[in-house]
Amino acid sequence: MSPADIQQLIDFTYIAAAIGFILAIKWLGSPVTAKRGVLVGEIASAIAVIATLSDPQVSQYKWIIITLIIGAAVGVPLGMVKMTAVPQRTALSHAFGALSAALIGIAEYYVAAPSVPRFQMAEIGLEVIIGSLTFTGSLIAAGKLQEILPQRPITYKGQNYVSLTVLAAALGLVVALVLHPEMTFLFPIMIGVALIFGIMLVTPIGGADMPTVISLLNSYAGFSASLLGFVLNNKVLIVAGALDGASGFILSVIMCKAMNRSFTNVLFGAFGQVQASAAGAKEERAVKSASPEDAAGILAAANTVVIVPGYGMAVAQAQHKVRELYDILTKKGIDVRFGIHPVAGRMPGHMNVLLAEADIPYDRMMEMDAINGDLPQTDVALVIGANDVTNPAARTDQSSPIFGMPIIDVDKARTVMVIKRSMAAGFAGIDNPLYYLDNTMMLFGDAKKFVGDIVRELSGGSH
Ligand code: TAP
Repeated sequence: MSPADIQQLIDFTYIAAAIGFILAIKWLGSPVTAKRGVLVGEIASAIAVIATLSDPQVSQYKWIIITLIIGAAVGVPLGMVKMTAVPQRTALSHAFGALSAALIGIAEYYVAAPSVPRFQMAEIGLEVIIGSLTFTGSLIAAGKLQEILPQRPITYKGQNYVSLTVLAAALGLVVALVLHPEMTFLFPIMIGVALIFGIMLVTPIGGADMPTVISLLNSYAGFSASLLGFVLNNKVLIVAGALDGASGFILSVIMCKAMNRSFTNVLFGAFGQVQASAAGAKEERAVKSASPEDAAGILAAANTVVIVPGYGMAVAQAQHKVRELYDILTKKGIDVRFGIHPVAGRMPGHMNVLLAEADIPYDRMMEMDAINGDLPQTDVALVIGANDVTNPAARTDQSSPIFGMPIIDVDKARTVMVIKRSMAAGFAGIDNPLYYLDNTMMLFGDAKKFVGDIVRELSGGSH
């Protein structure tokens, strides 16, 4: 085969891979087709990698194989983390992806410097800036989620102006390099400024906004890969990066809506500014608590039950017990549905994945908007390890850091029962007035154990 033929074959393979990526994203959009989406995405990635490695420009494989082995040795254990640690793991993936994009851009620069054509200089500059800021930003996000770094927003007066000035400085350096390619000493300064900007972008952001940040960093990592595709003239990288960037961007917008955050603030890294709030102080009011026996009695007497799962269900791995509860209540003729908040748990779709794992029928899982209208006519709302996503302060308390975030209106149900281990706060670190309402009962205990106890009571102690 002539080199031209090989190139043509590679281009065709890239088109096939790109179609695979598009189908994968489409199929990932529904739990019914998600598995197929993952498989097709994996196959498309493998095809793209093999095609790229077959390029005659790849002159030797030694370093590729060595780095592949090192990467796999680090990557495989990283992929084995518990599902609750997936957000920080994802943040680390973005950090590595962005770092590799930045490093390749840096290598391309030094291969051509100082005579880098202007257009290419602009591409490399932007790509290295986005890659570098995504690298440090993602590391900070991972550190916050792993609780190595403080989760609360770290802010100071005039922060947005300082951050924007730093970003402007990085972009200004790219312009200077385009105009004066001989000033090569500016390039490492530009990288340094971009790395610092990444840190400044994420440190002011508080825990409750972290999901949006992760998704946004995903989008940045994708765009930097896409820009790198232009630098390297690699079509599949352009397409895959653009798909990654655009889908991450759309997910960020959806999450902003779900949490009622302003997207412009997110874009400029100026969000998560939490004022010291009255909601932060825990109320010393009494709550009503109940036993598994009481809870079973109340559930058995209900006609309609809405179960609202949250992070605690994931921690306790209670989904299979929840399935048993669903089965036993449904058998008694009780209408049981699940109310799923878009940011319940620690990653998008977290609750859907767990409930699907336990074979809960998809048509029983309702999105927040679909279930909220029905809650006032619901006999029992059973909250299992969810906290922030049910906090009515989001509707009423303007000083609350989660004010404006749409919640699942469990407080409107006739009876609310909340399974959690203590009065401890959720991810946003704030008290939940739901627990002190007249129609609320606290079911203190581990979610798996408590749901198991309720199931045993409902099945007459024989389970
Ligand atoms: P949280 O507000 O984090 O509340 C979870 C509750 O589960 C805690 O209050 C905890 O109370 C309880 N819990 C923990 N372990 C438990 C166990 N073994 N058994 C029973 N209960 C247990 O969860 P949520 O309502 O799902 O809200 C999610 C929060 O995470 C939001 O603030 C969201 O913004 C944020 N976040 C979401 C994502 C995504 S994309 N979903 C990503 C990052 C952050 P006890 O300690 O008293 O048991």
